[in-house]
Amino acid sequence: MIAEASAPAKIILCGEHAVVYGQPAIAIPIPTLRARAVAYEPDSIGQGLKIQAVDLGQELYLNNIENFDRGNPLLLAAHLFLARFGRLVPDITIELTSDIPVASGLGSGAAITTAFLRVLISILRQPVENGTLNEIVYEVEKFHHGTPSGIDNSVIVYERPVYFVRNQPIEWLPIGMKLTFLIGDTGIAASTYEAVSAVRLLYEANRSEVKGTIDSIGRIVVGIRQAIDSGDAGEIGQLMTENHRLLQQLTVSSTKLDTLVDAALSAGAIGAKLSGGGRGGNMISAVHEQDVSSIRDALFSAGASQVFEVRLS
Ligand code: PMV
Repeated sequence: MIAEASAPAKIILCGEHAVVYGQPAIAIPIPTLRARAVAYEPDSIGQGLKIQAVDLGQELYLNNIENFDRGNPLLLAAHLFLARFGRLVPDITIELTSDIPVASGLGSGAAITTAFLRVLISILRQPVENGTLNEIVYEVEKFHHGTPSGIDNSVIVYERPVYFVRNQPIEWLPIGMKLTFLIGDTGIAASTYEAVSAVRLLYEANRSEVKGTIDSIGRIVVGIRQAIDSGDAGEIGQLMTENHRLLQQLTVSSTKLDTLVDAALSAGAIGAKLSGGGRGGNMISAVHEQDVSSIRDALFSAGASQVFEVRLS
């Protein structure tokens, strides 16, 4: 092994979808769930860049930074990075692995791209600011999602909770209170691109009503931020559940997400909502420390395929 790097998963606490329309959203990193990139010596001199995406069962090669399969996000990431800094393709093998479920609202794509680019940065000893890395990861995110807001790459590259407003400088969100979240995975892969497109169609068909819902989500996010500042977990939870009801109105929930949200609430969660693109993927619940194991059990009994715990402070 010559170098290694990793990047965390992320979860959106509140404001998804509305963030696409200029409202704020809050996202937090999940340090315990990570994508990893490890660089090894090449098999032979002149090999170029060999990428082994272990979980995807893919082996990719890049020999020429202008002539490659632009449909592949990892090759695109390598191209953007090398072209930006005027670097030649290195002779290296990079192995990628990830604990993060794919297409489930946990930022798997952005985390893999970030870990991959960080290991390239390390091998090439190329000084790169986080801001520049964030821009490149955002370009690759566009490949995955069409018109992403940029929240995923920001929280993952900087690995800090973020209060995010599209096209505005990133604002970090210091969280000075203890908060415990349980994340329940529906086990159903869902396309964020399709969910975002569905909300767009709804918006075009009924602007005033959908704008009202989006604005209400924005007010909830502002309220959650204030509740974080004042250390009021009860208020955070209540607003999260209200956020879920509004996401239902935007048609991005699903039977399974609703089942998991209801199961968490019935088992004593302070609040619960879907997280990310929706229609599958994950939900997040805010829980009291003493209820962690009973709510985890309730989520599994309600059909969660996995449950992750995130603790802040
Ligand atoms: O990548 P996901 O599934 O966590 O969703 C991203 C959040 C959305 O607001 C739905 C889309 C976006 O680009 O912000």
